[in-house]
Amino acid sequence: MEGSRSAAMVLLLTFVCTILCVCKNVAAELPRFEHPARGGGGSVAFLVVGDWGRKGHYNQSLVSHQMGKIAEDLDIDFVVSTGDNFYDNGLHGEDDPNFLDSFSNVYTSRSLHKQWYSVLGNHDYRGNAVAQLSSYLRKIDSRWLCLRSFVVNTEIAELFFVDTTPMVEEYFTNPGDHTYDWRGVLPVKSYVANLLQDVETALKESKAKWRIVIGHHAIRSISHHGDTRELVDQLLPILRANGVDLYINGHDHCLQQISDNQSPIQFLTSGGGSKAWRGEMDKSNVGVVKFFYDGQGFMSVTLDSSDVEVVFYDVSGRALHRWTMSKFLLSSLM
Ligand SMILES: *[C@@H]1O[C@H](CO)[C@@H](O)[C@H](O)[C@H]1NC(C)=O
Repeated sequence: MEGSRSAAMVLLLTFVCTILCVCKNVAAELPRFEHPARGGGGSVAFLVVGDWGRKGHYNQSLVSHQMGKIAEDLDIDFVVSTGDNFYDNGLHGEDDPNFLDSFSNVYTSRSLHKQWYSVLGNHDYRGNAVAQLSSYLRKIDSRWLCLRSFVVNTEIAELFFVDTTPMVEEYFTNPGDHTYDWRGVLPVKSYVANLLQDVETALKESKAKWRIVIGHHAIRSISHHGDTRELVDQLLPILRANGVDLYINGHDHCLQQISDNQSPIQFLTSGGGSKAWRGEMDKSNVGVVKFFYDGQGFMSVTLDSSDVEVVFYDVSGRALHRWTMSKFLLSSLM
């Protein structure tokens, strides 16, 4: 009941946002969704999974099963997907059976029947990216909400979802055998400039205690793909200047935590939703590596007005790494 009510609310808000964007026909404000934490807004809990849609294979089903258990324990409010939602090449269209095979029929636990907030990854852009944004998918599975960039406000925390794929120049200059669905992001220079401006504005206006930014690509990573130069150059300065606490991404199929060397920002990778074990690691990273796991798994985030706790889990549900931070402690130190 609660799920269907929040789904209806999301639909209504999407409709209103779409009307506003169409009428303005310019770089609009990021669409916003209100998702007040249950129980009076005292705390928020959510899971993060990335790089997952493989029809249950490559341990996707095991990860899903453990997500269901942890979601129940933590009584989560929602799930965040860091993109690469459907392999290998996104969805072909709104009716692609891969949507059911890799999403609805995999994440079946009752505790995962909450709102999902998703961004697109580079693999999603290799298919029909627009189909993943379609409200038609919400008729098939009301949990689904994927937009390019948007804000979710939980009152104590605001989550800023950023469409990072169009920022990566290589996909345009050196696409190799891949074709990308760039409908809606061209000309890319002004798309990215507007996006960065919108993110900066939204962060500056934020009154939330916790500011969490989510994108598909890593800012810092010691795994296969490494740092994303465009994000280090263009996005990171905005995050540092606007009190961002966490930057969460997928793209590299691993779990990791790296602390920024110039701000309190934690870079958290949760990209272990299915295929993993790449066996690559580059230790020459800028920042302090607090945790790295090359295999499959997912992450939980719980927050209240003073504390955040981040936990990484493997396919057996074992907590591999736990990190907590208190805002009060931090502000009294600074
Ligand atoms: C599934 O997870 C187990 C435990 O981490 C691992 O040993 C196995 O290689 C994984 N399977 C695949 C296909 O990655």
